[in-house]
Amino acid sequence: MPKPKPSESDLIKAARKAQKFAQAPYSNYCVGAALLAKDGRTFTGVNVESSSYGLSVCAERVALFKALSEGADSFTKLVVATDSHPPASPCGACRQLLWDYARGIKIILAGKNGVAVKTTIADLMPRPFGTEDL
Ligand code: THU
Repeated sequence: MPKPKPSESDLIKAARKAQKFAQAPYSNYCVGAALLAKDGRTFTGVNVESSSYGLSVCAERVALFKALSEGADSFTKLVVATDSHPPASPCGACRQLLWDYARGIKIILAGKNGVAVKTTIADLMPRPFGTEDL
């Protein structure tokens, strides 16, 4: 029997669990992400910071790159877990990559005290640049 697809609350739990592994010694701002692939797999990510600050990578991109590098190429949902209120949104760089590789996804922004906001990548990218422009 195939494994049942994770629910939204399973995905939020996965992002929260991942958040604990964030490597954020410079900003102390910990982010966890959980990206659900159409094939049912969940890929988590955390922000990983460098002493050379500009090399730091966001949680969303870590999750996306893990997924792509393991053969997942179609996605349905992304949870971004932070301790912000209101819940934080993906940065511009992550939005571009999500537009490129995960255009159809629903996004759940999970913030402090269980507050969750739903959005879409289309909402976050009103006039996107994409492969169609090349
Ligand atoms: N960060 C993320 O991981 N995702 C976001 O959506 C926004 C920002 C990280 C980058 C950096 O490690 C820290 O949060 C503060 O900007």
